Amino acid sequence: MRIVDIITKKRDGGELTRAEIDFFIKGYVAGDVPDYQAAAWLMAVFFRGMTPAETTYLTEAMAFSGATLDLHDVAPFIVDKHSSGGVGDKTTLVVGPIVASLGVPVGKMSGRGLSFSGGTLDKLESIPGFVADLTIEQFKRQLRDVGLVVAGPTHELAPADGKLYALRDVTGTVPSLPLIASSIMSKKIAAGADAIVLDVKTGHGAFMETETQATALAELMVQIGRRLGRRMTALIGDMSQPLGLAVGNALEVAEAIATLHDNGPADFRQHCVDVAAEMLLIARAHVPGTSEVPGTFGIESARAQATAALADGSAWAKFREFVAAQGGNLAFVDDPGRLPRAAVVEPLPAPRSGYVARLDAREVGFTVVDLGGGRAKKGDPIDPAVGVVLAEGSKVGGRVEAGEPLLWVHARTPSSCAAALARLARACTFADEPVAAPQLIHRVIR
Ligand code: URA
Repeated sequence: MRIVDIITKKRDGGELTRAEIDFFIKGYVAGDVPDYQAAAWLMAVFFRGMTPAETTYLTEAMAFSGATLDLHDVAPFIVDKHSSGGVGDKTTLVVGPIVASLGVPVGKMSGRGLSFSGGTLDKLESIPGFVADLTIEQFKRQLRDVGLVVAGPTHELAPADGKLYALRDVTGTVPSLPLIASSIMSKKIAAGADAIVLDVKTGHGAFMETETQATALAELMVQIGRRLGRRMTALIGDMSQPLGLAVGNALEVAEAIATLHDNGPADFRQHCVDVAAEMLLIARAHVPGTSEVPGTFGIESARAQATAALADGSAWAKFREFVAAQGGNLAFVDDPGRLPRAAVVEPLPAPRSGYVARLDAREVGFTVVDLGGGRAKKGDPIDPAVGVVLAEGSKVGGRVEAGEPLLWVHARTPSSCAAALARLARACTFADEPVAAPQLIHRVIR
């Protein structure tokens, strides 16, 4: 087999066999296939798509490109969640501690920033000392001792996703249904979770913009997971505007910490409770003895437990334990004012009074990337301090008065701040009549 023939076949719209996909993934992980051929292949997949069978082969080839974890010697049932990518999506930082604090172990492999969408690992690494690159032994030990671990793909686990993810980020090949499905599901399968809750986003700040595309992605991932013996739930969540108020790595960590202290923006907090409740529901249904009254544990009980874990401080305590276990300096989470801060902070005044009708999440995401919060080239360093913070009334449906701050830009230099303010001014539109806030969760596939 020759890689160029596999690229050509996909370029011309052919259906790849399992053997061809395996050959490509093995060669890329071994370093025999160079980035330029992998990039050409990714672009061919982007334009030609893949059948469900090809996507399943690709997922399996990526999942088994390194070691896979069997965690049953550590815990009887492990849940995981994964977002399909969004702007201001710091959900894992809150949901992981909620669920783990309620006795359900969470072992998670996360990603870095991808195109306009931020990455959980980049966010966590804005806490000085935090280490995401764990060995299998470390992953297992922490899952046993703390009940919560968030690691990056390594050369040991799903190395194919680690390499392809970084290449997709800088080759314009992110928003592809088979590439997203295989990227997410390969990590989930390799990391050994028994049950997976997918948080699939739809809207202009998501890779799958329409609800139809997002549902197709969710259904395909659910199907792949179930085929491989995993319990699956998928939520289709809104990403037409940023989730919460903060976008940018350290700024999002600070917002997650506020939420873990039972504060934080209402939409983000609600979303976290909804995702945590689905994880609890799927776990309680399958772990004997974890439902208080067998047969009576439903989604409302799960929401009540998640809400209580935020209110009584147990989720916060679990977050501290998890950060410390991964080397993070607790002084920075106990006093988030010490997290990296940008030198320049400027407001964007509302150009008129009215109701916010549109706050384009994708534009906000790209603005943060341009400020230095994301990568332009593979391996670029990122600036944890930069970002955008919306004013509370600036979410869609909010009422704003002319001249009042709509948002604040956190930048490294005055010129990058000015460019960001100009771009964001074009990302918002206003209406005279009241506008309904978008529904947070559009549907659930259980
Ligand atoms: N999250 C991932 O892990 N991979 C993608 O491709 C998109 C979101």
